[in-house]
Amino acid sequence: SRITLRQLLDHAAEHGYGVPAFNINNMEQALAIMAAADAVDAPVIIQASRGARQYANDIMLKHMMDAVTEIYPHIPVCVHLDHGNNAATCMTAIQAGFTSVMMDGSLKEDGKTPGDWEYNVGVTRQVVQISHLGGISVEGELGVLGSLETGMGDKEDGHGAEGKLSHDQLLTNPDEAVEFVRATKVDALAIAMGTSHGAYKFSRKPDGAILAMHVIEEIHRKLPNMHLVMHGSSSVPQDLQDIINQYGGKMPQTWGVPVEEIQRGIKHGVRKINIDTDNRMAMTGQIRKVLTEQPGEFDPRKYLKPAMEAMTKLCKQRLEEFWTAGKA
Ligand code: G3H
Ligand code: 13P
Ligand code: NA
Ligand code: ZN
Repeated sequence: SRITLRQLLDHAAEHGYGVPAFNINNMEQALAIMAAADAVDAPVIIQASRGARQYANDIMLKHMMDAVTEIYPHIPVCVHLDHGNNAATCMTAIQAGFTSVMMDGSLKEDGKTPGDWEYNVGVTRQVVQISHLGGISVEGELGVLGSLETGMGDKEDGHGAEGKLSHDQLLTNPDEAVEFVRATKVDALAIAMGTSHGAYKFSRKPDGAILAMHVIEEIHRKLPNMHLVMHGSSSVPQDLQDIINQYGGKMPQTWGVPVEEIQRGIKHGVRKINIDTDNRMAMTGQIRKVLTEQPGEFDPRKYLKPAMEAMTKLCKQRLEEFWTAGKA
């Protein structure tokens, strides 16, 4: 059944677990996520970015979401808009059947310029007011994602802040978080503490200097009832890097967010954990493997099936690690 982010995260808070939010762009990813949720009896968040909506078409996404909830009626699914950049994008997502939207006012509409306080509070509050009239949940974001190592915003894949950012911008200020939540009435708050989108998050296994989990603990102390969201939370596992590189890929060595750090976050109010890159890598590794080992193959099912299985495996693992398993 389809549920809102508020319903799901309230339950998660009550029972002390986190919920991975997996990005989708196509049928294979939607089916892979649902197979995982079904296998471990977990609720799940499926999210689509603006790019996903352009790629797949809102009508296709709408029917795909209807289809997966019909195939797996016993699995609670929240369908969420990832990184909405203005009120209109959020409203059209709601029209397409999303039960939750992210209004990301940490960046201006261009997706590059950091949004100032007045802009972020203003646009987020507006989206919350309209969405709540229809029972739709809203995630806001305070603080700009980017690397504490380099000070750079995460524009690796074409979106994210441009240029050099200060630690002030890269780390959510706990007092401002309190004020932001009070002023906007968001259902969930995404915070910045050193993660960034994509595969290239850290140049070494992160410690407290470059992954500031203590910021989460401080925010949770001041906002014990707020559902916190971690973006850029792929772990970029070594074995997935190795498979890609073993079969002709060229990914330089990199580090993601260790699962044990996410688990520490879940113990301090983190309820939604965004993961896209790990699933992209899981699928791509298998596609490379099949096409390398069987160069005569040209039936897409021959490589998409193993790709889906690798994604299901990854999703199952995260649902177990975040204690979502068994909570459907
Ligand atoms: O925000 C990042 C998510 O991984 C979605 O990425 O905008 O390329 O679909 P995307
Ligand atoms: P990753 O790139 O770490 O998977 O993060 C995804 C994300 O935050 C989507 O909003
Ligand atoms: Na989001
Ligand atoms: Zn994100």
